[in-house]
Amino acid sequence: MSVDLRTRYLGFELSGPLVASASPMTGTLAGLRAVQQAGASMAVMPSLFEEQIEHEELSLQALREYGSESFAEALDYRPAPDGYPLGPEAYLDVLRRARAELAIPVCASLNGCTAGGWAHYAHELEQAGASALELNVYVVSTDLDTSGAELERRMLDLVAIVRAAVRLPLAVKIGPGFSAPAHMARRLVEVGADGLVLFNRYLRPDIDLEKLELVPSLVLSDSYDSRIPLQWIGILRGKLAASLAASSGVHTAEDALKLLMVGADAVMATSSVLKQGPAHFTRMQAGIRTWMEQHGYASIEQLKGSLSRENCPDPSAYERANYMRSLISYTGKFI
Ligand SMILES: Cc1cc2nc3c(=O)[nH]c(=O)nc-3n(C[C@H](O)[C@H](O)[C@H](O)COP(=O)(O)O)c2cc1C
Repeated sequence: MSVDLRTRYLGFELSGPLVASASPMTGTLAGLRAVQQAGASMAVMPSLFEEQIEHEELSLQALREYGSESFAEALDYRPAPDGYPLGPEAYLDVLRRARAELAIPVCASLNGCTAGGWAHYAHELEQAGASALELNVYVVSTDLDTSGAELERRMLDLVAIVRAAVRLPLAVKIGPGFSAPAHMARRLVEVGADGLVLFNRYLRPDIDLEKLELVPSLVLSDSYDSRIPLQWIGILRGKLAASLAASSGVHTAEDALKLLMVGADAVMATSSVLKQGPAHFTRMQAGIRTWMEQHGYASIEQLKGSLSRENCPDPSAYERANYMRSLISYTGKFI
């Protein structure tokens, strides 16, 4: 039996459900070529950060206002964010070349949290040929006086600004840390998101006990991390007029199949591909195909959402009731 792996995401008909999410791998033409070759049906470039764009705009402004001799000084005022692989111009260049060469849609990504002029950079990305735009809204609010409601309002304003700046399909990528993720998802769609990417996975700082310093620490995900999008995509499936992409913890064909079953339109992978190389897309896609053949599924469309909260026989598995049952029924081997 031949299986139809096509899926619709953000208005695109993708050749398969596996998408390369934003990472350094998708930040170069060689990396983009490699993920396409391996079977990723779409690629999301790494984010251009608000700080990078503002830095570049400040640099240009400094050049105009002070002349070249004070340029270096003006730059010192706001040091370049170190270690970013691509500045805005280089980013646009990779994007243009990727769009000219690749067959798969290439999605650009912006990361920011304030409604500054930088958000209009979305228009530049559109002009450079982005197939779609992913807006990655991330804020670490350390201010005890700023409420969640206020932060959410700012995020929604930002999405509305970016929405107004482009005609491209717009996906918004969020983290899972909202008190009411379902409500926030609805509001994001109301202000213009065509799709939601659930979820980003944030880096948590660590402490170097020898240097007695806080250090950034990048720990890649494992399959267990996919349970977070699994739960929320399952809850949201069928409730929103928007595409849903799963991100976090997709390491195996089985992880991807489960996320499709709860209702993901596309399944994204970064960590597993960074660990195992782009060919991991080929292996996961083959695994999805084999499983579907063995279990009598003809298409991804048939599989999609079959175990969402709306469709599963026991919707309480998604809810608080299940939490209590799970705790009570736990029997670890040391008990
Ligand atoms: C090294 C690295 C760089 C990343 N860069 C970005 C980025 O620029 N923009 C973004 O939205 N997400 C970025 N992410 C997050 C991934 O796109 C993805 O959402 C997250 O890692 C969870 O998926 P995974 O479990 O498949 O890794 C990055 C992740 C890693 C590991």
